[in-house]
Amino acid sequence: MQIANRVLQLKPSATLAVNTLAQELRATGREVISLSVGEPDFDTPRHIRDAAIAAVNAGFTKYTAVPGIPELRKAASDYFNLAGAGSLPEHVLISNGGKQSLYNLFQCVLNPGDEVIIPAPYWVSYPPMVELAGGIAVIAHSGVEKGFKITPGDLERLRTPKTKACVINSPSNPTGAIYSQAELDAIAAWAVENKILIISDEIYDRLVYHPSTHASACPWWHKHPENFVIVNGVAKTFAMTGWRVGYLLAHPEIIKACNKLQGQSTSNICSIAQAAALAALTGSLDCLPPMRDTFMRRRDLVMEAIGRWPGVTCATPGGAFYVFPDVRELFTSSMPNSTALCKTLLDKAGVALVPGEAFGDDNCIRISYATDDATLQKALEKIESALW
Ligand SMILES: Cc1ncc(COP(=O)(O)O)c(C=O)c1O
Repeated sequence: MQIANRVLQLKPSATLAVNTLAQELRATGREVISLSVGEPDFDTPRHIRDAAIAAVNAGFTKYTAVPGIPELRKAASDYFNLAGAGSLPEHVLISNGGKQSLYNLFQCVLNPGDEVIIPAPYWVSYPPMVELAGGIAVIAHSGVEKGFKITPGDLERLRTPKTKACVINSPSNPTGAIYSQAELDAIAAWAVENKILIISDEIYDRLVYHPSTHASACPWWHKHPENFVIVNGVAKTFAMTGWRVGYLLAHPEIIKACNKLQGQSTSNICSIAQAAALAALTGSLDCLPPMRDTFMRRRDLVMEAIGRWPGVTCATPGGAFYVFPDVRELFTSSMPNSTALCKTLLDKAGVALVPGEAFGDDNCIRISYATDDATLQKALEKIESALW
């Protein structure tokens, strides 16, 4: 069977691949701690689970409208409005996770050869999604020295007549870096001036640690809906990764296009997951601060350990649940890059991490601290004794 070129050229997700490797090793009887996945270890809060059970028992198990049930579109629109979007439910489309929101979006706005500027380090799925849509991923490198952030000057150097869009992900996966309001405003003004679409992936917007604050692109969407798209979802905020609910705030023409594409691919998302997401967005948000505070404590635990590791530098992340230490000083002729270092750690320490190479920065490795304190502590000790 001849598999299509577009899939033959597609790189598998590195984060999922590392996790699969860890599972395979575990199946052989080895103890492996995986700090490779990006999902909260908490249970989905009780009132959200109850809403899903009630939906099943009430027979809410049929197809729904493709862009999502009206109540959920309104709830997501209200959520964006908290950040200043001034949107209506028809400006929102509900999809199978933020991932499908982004996939739909690239398919709907890119023509072959259109360029999308993606700041590196980047979330692993942006470049393949752009390429699957026929676009060209143009990488804007920003290392630890620049706080893993890009400026309008960096963007301007990469801009060509083909530049269609630019992705901004704050807080960032994998670095946890956060753009300040002034930094975001400068990029937004550049985008408006040059008619570039800013795709603002704000999926970690609630996982921001004091004294950092989240700057949303929602107020910019309000003023220039043709220049901004905002992606969000319940996965990270409400510990709902498996429910697959994401939402896109966009210009009505983009929403219409994404709706058409979704109607011919996946149709509506799971009706029960929609009921759960509605409970998440309209219920009490009291469940969020304890989860956020736990992540912040774990971040401090990891940063304290990294502070003891000679040769390793790491910017303190302001949000999300990852640290992205620069480990290039540890490279040797037999361990020359981030992939080799992660392999050594898996072999010697039984700890699975994701090489920075997968995120476009081979000097670094990604440690996810979305796991319980005891496991995290144990993994950090194992890393320490394997490398020093
Ligand atoms: C930066 C970023 N954007 C989007 C997503 C997609 O999230 P989901 O599809 O689970 O809503 C993820 C998940 O890891 C992510 O890290």
